[in-house]
Amino acid sequence: MIVGIDIGGSTTDAVILEDGEFHVVTIEANDPVAAAAGALGKLVEQYGIDLNQVERVAATGAGSRALGERLLGRQIVKVSEFTAIGVGGTSLAGKQRALVVSLGTGTAIVSVNGEKIDHTGGTGVGGGTLLGLSKHILGVSSIDTLEAMASRGDLRRVDLKVGDIAGGPIGDLPAGTTAANFGKIRADATPEDKALAIINMIVEVIGVLSLANARACGQEDIVLTGKITRIFRFMQKIRRLEFMFGRGFVIPDHADYATAIGAARTAARM
Ligand SMILES: Nc1ncnc2c1ncn2[C@@H]1O[C@H](COP(=O)(O)OP(=O)(O)OP(=O)(O)O)[C@@H](O)[C@H]1O
Ligand SMILES: [Mg+2]
Repeated sequence: MIVGIDIGGSTTDAVILEDGEFHVVTIEANDPVAAAAGALGKLVEQYGIDLNQVERVAATGAGSRALGERLLGRQIVKVSEFTAIGVGGTSLAGKQRALVVSLGTGTAIVSVNGEKIDHTGGTGVGGGTLLGLSKHILGVSSIDTLEAMASRGDLRRVDLKVGDIAGGPIGDLPAGTTAANFGKIRADATPEDKALAIINMIVEVIGVLSLANARACGQEDIVLTGKITRIFRFMQKIRRLEFMFGRGFVIPDHADYATAIGAARTAARM
């Protein structure tokens, strides 16, 4: 059996793929070797697996370069993070081609056309930005708390809309389109309004960048993966993603640890 491990900027995920089923653990640790060893150890402990049954460990993510040739005695195969993102996203979404956007600490964008996988862009606006701004502006360091606050927020006291400056639509831009995130922040904006505005800004930046990349790469479908997919789900739930509907944004099951799954699947083909 093959274990996939993604040592990311914030979390380390380890998965085992078995007969189409996934077993997964996620841990947080600063040292990449400790994170990988801890995740592998926890995975085998938690699911009652004998370490000797693990043929290979497919390692990916920024921290994987710190690993040597073996982890707890098991052979390591290193998988490029962009390959793991592309394979993970498309296989979970059941697609041969798609733009895959990894929403992690930062945001990486990969275009997949069958076997051809290209890193086409990304942005430093991501989960790290979400938590950084949330701590700095609101003193909140939990995403659950941030979302609970945001569900009671109102963007009209924070964001400048096209309609605010033009009195209506401008060409094909509806009046409700954001002209400037935080561009109209008022003295009476509440912490709840700011929580929503932070989430909204990050979702809009990533959404608009994804659409531009999809257009440039000729991709119809956009697959979102990574742990920050939850804020896209949140914005869909409170129906603030109107500008993105009509284009194929897909968040597959197991999106949170898609990169670790992609690493395992890539190693299985080697
Ligand atoms: N348990 C958690 N610990 C830390 N961050 C979390 C956790 N759960 C969700 N997050 C959020 O998810 C983000 C990290 O997402 P994810 O784990 O997909 O990325 P990563 O793989 O660590 O980073 P990258 O892919 O950019 O190297 C954090 O920035 C934070 O906003
Ligand atoms: Mg990641």
